[in-house]
Amino acid sequence: MRIAVVGSGYVGLVTGACFADLGHEVVLVDNDEQKLSALRDGEVPIHERFLPELLARHRGQRIKFSGDLQGAVRDSAAVFIAVGTPPTETGDADLSYVESVAREISGAVDSYKVVVEKSTVPVYTSQWVRTVIMRNGADPASFDVASNPEFLREGTAVSDFLFPDRIVVGAESDRCAQVLREIYAPLTSGAYYAQPDAIPRPDRAQIPPRLIVTSTKSAELIKHASNAFLAMKISFINAVASVCESVGADVQQVCEGIGTDSRIGPRFLNPGIGYGGSCFPKDLMAFRAVAKECGYDFRLLDEVIRINEEQRHRFLRKVRGVLWTLRGKRLGVLGLAFKGGTDDIRESPAILLVQELLREGCRISAYDPAAMERAKEVLNSNVEYTLDAYEAASGADALLVLTEWEEFAALDLARLRKLLKYPIVIDGRNLYDPAVMAAHGFSYHSVGRPEAQANDLPAGARRPGKTEHS
Ligand code: UGA
Repeated sequence: MRIAVVGSGYVGLVTGACFADLGHEVVLVDNDEQKLSALRDGEVPIHERFLPELLARHRGQRIKFSGDLQGAVRDSAAVFIAVGTPPTETGDADLSYVESVAREISGAVDSYKVVVEKSTVPVYTSQWVRTVIMRNGADPASFDVASNPEFLREGTAVSDFLFPDRIVVGAESDRCAQVLREIYAPLTSGAYYAQPDAIPRPDRAQIPPRLIVTSTKSAELIKHASNAFLAMKISFINAVASVCESVGADVQQVCEGIGTDSRIGPRFLNPGIGYGGSCFPKDLMAFRAVAKECGYDFRLLDEVIRINEEQRHRFLRKVRGVLWTLRGKRLGVLGLAFKGGTDDIRESPAILLVQELLREGCRISAYDPAAMERAKEVLNSNVEYTLDAYEAASGADALLVLTEWEEFAALDLARLRKLLKYPIVIDGRNLYDPAVMAAHGFSYHSVGRPEAQANDLPAGARRPGKTEHS
């Protein structure tokens, strides 16, 4: 099928590349000429596993890049809108980019088209998109608007797209639903997975995936409700971790105990310094705003957001509780991205914490495997960026772990201990086993677990009393 994807950001690029891998002819449309020429030259603007391979495989053949939106619409049977929906000051999603794309599409509807919302949008957006396309002159019988939310995680977006838990299609007519069924047929029939060059199947993937057809409003709500539920799981376990700290329990053991209940499940129950990224914080605010507008005060979401913010303040109090004063201290920081496996620092709790520590007068040596270039754009010059984790730890008063990169979990602990000025590790992501850390001579502080103290610590590295638990 010929498909236009409007917007070549995270969602658009991944969607376009994956559709091409399913055998479709894709035009990726963007109004940023510089971006388009970089993409045509083979650059891959985001850090995303398998994306470079897919773009290289299909660039110039099944994927074309274009600045001509109307031309792309005329040439396509389906048009996916994947432009940004940034938050406004009040937390609502700013839908002006979606609206302007809808306006432009209108003038190019010359045969039956399915216009698909792929960006995360509030309920009722598809109705507005339909209204805008009609108001600008398109014949109502010549197009349908569908909602096909994505559930991609940054870092694993390509695998998530090609091996989804489910595909959600919100459509108001059989004709429209049928177009989307055809687009996803290589996945739902299992044909894609039999291809020798298919992207490798992730461990947990159930194939072939189910395609769920709903109304457009339900599909729009499914996306917001899914992200809100996942964020709620994280805030819930973070709140439980705080109780664990107060009573001296171990949140890891609690997670194992509750996560094995199949109704709850073990995933998204990792406590830490709170969720970040370009999706959860924005989508929770947008969901809260749209619910309010529709007459429901979704206060549970306020609490999820509050707990998430509090988690960072607790971590900061923990750092103060361990190090006493902060002015002039040199801290090694591992991780700046909002999570492991990505170079994205948007709403990164790690960045917010580093900014706070800088305000308190700390000197920071930071290392992140992918996000340092982006971090340099937002952090001041009091941050030194290092070549690896060991250099960040070298001579530091303490080491802070702020992002859950797998490579941090595999560091040589004996080497780290030798490099640090004091063998203190404050881990915001629970990457290490406290007993192992104590055995390696660290004073180790994590989230929701009793602190571990080495027996052979020099007296100066010991702190009187316990970690601050309030
Ligand atoms: C999230 C959702 O997981 C995707 O399903 C959704 O499609 C996407 O948002 C979106 O709306 O586009 P993403 O933002 O890439 O994906 O990141 P996640 O892997 O969900 O992590 C979000 C944040 O939660 C990170 O800061 C991570 O460190 C944190 N997190 C995650 C925890 O603190 N604990 C956990 O157990 C899991």
